[in-house]
Amino acid sequence: MTTRHFLTDLDLSPEELTRVLNLADWMKANPYAIKPLAGPQTAAVFFDKTSTRTRISFGSGIAALGGSPLIINPGESQLGHKESIADTARVLERQVSLIVWRTYAQTGLEEMAEHSRAPVINALSDDYHPCQLLADLQAAREKLGSLAGRSLAYLGDAANNMANSYLLAGVNAGMDVRIAGPGGYLPSQDIILAAEERAAQTGAKVTITTDPGAALQGAEVVATDTWVSMGQEEEKEQRMRLFGDYQVSAEAMGKAAEGAVVLHCLPAYRGAEITAEVLDGEQSIIWDEAENRLHAQKALMAWLLVESGLADGETARLVREAEAGTA
Ligand code: CP
Ligand code: NVA
Repeated sequence: MTTRHFLTDLDLSPEELTRVLNLADWMKANPYAIKPLAGPQTAAVFFDKTSTRTRISFGSGIAALGGSPLIINPGESQLGHKESIADTARVLERQVSLIVWRTYAQTGLEEMAEHSRAPVINALSDDYHPCQLLADLQAAREKLGSLAGRSLAYLGDAANNMANSYLLAGVNAGMDVRIAGPGGYLPSQDIILAAEERAAQTGAKVTITTDPGAALQGAEVVATDTWVSMGQEEEKEQRMRLFGDYQVSAEAMGKAAEGAVVLHCLPAYRGAEITAEVLDGEQSIIWDEAENRLHAQKALMAWLLVESGLADGETARLVREAEAGTA
């Protein structure tokens, strides 16, 4: 069996995405029922950038799956500076059952996956944050009841990892995705082409615009992210000026659908990309979204192990039933 990795939002087919979200819902209701990492087996979780939610949700999730997390903080391993990524992968695959990595370059994740029999999971790169989108889609589906055909507007830094992942995961779920940011801070042509290609399969819509009002018009899901991503701290002042028109405020929400829900991956900067009124208001499902990191990533880990032929028979049976909605 070939190992399945999760490096970008498009590494799951549309049907697989639905199955993983179904499994996440089931695991939320049955938190300790599926134990693919019983032993305990270990999962390595590397951080080249800082983290709160990703560290805690993977640590807790790996434990709940019966395993033991090995959390490796920035600067603590030889990875990438004293030893090649390929050699690290060759060692890891003999000792751990999963590799989770938050890093800078997407190419690093690709190299790790190329040399590892253990599934590799992108825990955020400069280009994508696909685990976050599983949690976001789970939260949106919980509130709206469905995703296909629903409209999603993302406002702000539309060239960052979250914008790319909203676009790709949104079209994978068959949504009407509108991405709005200033000129020069929009998704690359490669990302737009990949989104359009997947949208052609799912019936999704893709709109890339500099007009926040056009993106927001009637949107059922409104999302944003920090204007200053990790590694961009020196550009902070310039970025604060640049994205001002794309703030998610009560006024902006007035253009969205009545009852629209608001997402933000956190950490959030009240008064910058989102006002306190909206973040802490009734339309915000941000805390459910943060909680769902745990459930969605547990589902993803179990699913990847089953798909890769690396889980026991009882786990595989339960995962198949839960993802099909028959458990
Ligand atoms: N949303 C998210 O990934 O948060 P952390 O950076 O705290 O992990
Ligand atoms: N775009 C943000 C997301 C943080 C979870 C960053 O990369 O810093």
